[in-house]
Amino acid sequence: MKIRKESPADLPEIRRLNDLVFAGSAEGSIVDAVRTSCPSALSLVAVERERIIGHVFFSPVTIEGMTGNKAMGLGPMCVHPDFQRNGIGTALVTEGIYELETLGCAVVVVLGHPEYYPRLGFVPANRHGLKCQWEGVPDDVFMVRFLEADMAGAVRGVVRYQKEFETAT
Ligand SMILES: CC(C)(COP(=O)(O)OP(=O)(O)OC[C@H]1O[C@@H](n2cnc3c(N)ncnc32)[C@H](O)[C@@H]1OP(=O)(O)O)[C@@H](O)C(=O)NCCC(=O)NCCS
Repeated sequence: MKIRKESPADLPEIRRLNDLVFAGSAEGSIVDAVRTSCPSALSLVAVERERIIGHVFFSPVTIEGMTGNKAMGLGPMCVHPDFQRNGIGTALVTEGIYELETLGCAVVVVLGHPEYYPRLGFVPANRHGLKCQWEGVPDDVFMVRFLEADMAGAVRGVVRYQKEFETAT
């Protein structure tokens, strides 16, 4: 299994994988829409024998009062059901975060499984005064990992994803 950046030829297969894993809900459309509107998005695939079996997407988020392009949101992420629990999700996040660090990203947030992401270094974002843009999201579901330690406490407020996260269907 190899992790690499997506290439243009991968896009239909990435869409199919997202549609399969998320049962046709909006994730695949979000990826397609944000990729188009947002050149700084990062999209990685896990490939085994030329087949895409996992995908992770990172896109810029804004945090109230924080300037520059230093915060990213992780997600959607998916692993083909036949290949889950083999460390592929972990490898995708680890490689993605390594890549983001080299690009100067300081903060990564995720809206996801509270039992899963803490093992990848994420903690509930509300502990650091960060709040998801959407009302009603349980506190433990919105998480943050600081890639620059001094950012913890230095940024607070509402975190906003790209508008396509709300408009894509
Ligand atoms: C969540 C997901 C990306 C994890 O990828 P993965 O390759 O299966 O995960 P890994 O192999 O790296 O990690 C497996 C560990 O995470 C745990 N885990 C996997 N999915 C989990 C979930 N939904 N909730 C809690 N723990 C989970 C497993 O119990 C396993 O722990 P163990 O090894 O102690 O048994 C994958 O299961 C998936 O695509 N799920 C459906 C789509 C989804 O929910 N995406 C994430 C949206 S936030």
